[in-house]
Amino acid sequence: VTGRVYLVGAGPGDPDLLTVRALRLLERAEVVAYDELVPMEIVALAAPGAERLPVGRRRGRGAVPYRVHPAVIERARAGKMVVRLKTGDPFVFGRGGEELEELAEEGIPAEVVPGISAALGAAAATGIPLTHRGVAAAVTLATGHDGARLATPGTLVLYMAAHNLERCMRELALAGRPEATPAAYVEAATTPRQRVVIGTIATLAASIGDPGDAPGLVIVGDVVGVAAAIASCTAPPALRVRKVGS
Ligand SMILES: C[S@@+](CC[C@H](N)C(=O)[O-])C[C@H]1O[C@@H](n2cnc3c(N)ncnc32)[C@H](O)[C@@H]1O
Repeated sequence: VTGRVYLVGAGPGDPDLLTVRALRLLERAEVVAYDELVPMEIVALAAPGAERLPVGRRRGRGAVPYRVHPAVIERARAGKMVVRLKTGDPFVFGRGGEELEELAEEGIPAEVVPGISAALGAAAATGIPLTHRGVAAAVTLATGHDGARLATPGTLVLYMAAHNLERCMRELALAGRPEATPAAYVEAATTPRQRVVIGTIATLAASIGDPGDAPGLVIVGDVVGVAAAIASCTAPPALRVRKVGS
């Protein structure tokens, strides 16, 4: 009998932001496959007897020759119930679609469990609403690779932008966004290592320093200014916004 692979959104980092379904599946899983962005506190929620399988592909380490890790396919073929933890949501820049294509080709049953994507976690943890009446009527989720060339209205959230932030901000300005538009860099959102830097399209890149390996995203738009106005009731997270807001 073939097993089943669950592509499970692990949320942005804080284990409390897992869904109930994700937790239930973790507790039942025979195999838990995860990459380096998924915190070990979340992997630790799996049953003690579950096999833990690191299947990471680190930034800049070159293309890997597979979509689903071969060990995941092998375990599922052996009849195991496999939980493949994906950071955030599997279908938001998580390659969930590609992995399902391969699982379909292999004839392995699969299911997707949504998770809180980093944009939503970062918004809540900083008190920056992604839409706000009269300020932003739309939000675009994009990657730093090409999203900065989009001249979309409203809020723009750029994933994977930390390492080419300067170019992203330049392209945004070229795409027609005023250089004074507020912008926030949110690193390791919802975790104890969360760091927030507030600036504008013109200033943000110079203020973030070396992001290292920590995941970070950028929220661009006038909604960033709303965080300060509501900080008194969203503290303590929004306090972190003010602390670094120089
Ligand atoms: C490959 S994408 C995966 C996105 C994920 N599927 C999601 O829905 O959040 C990795 C990028 O997500 C963002 N990211 C993930 N976790 C984050 C966090 N806790 N804080 C800030 N950004 C995060 C960063 O931009 C990082 O470069």
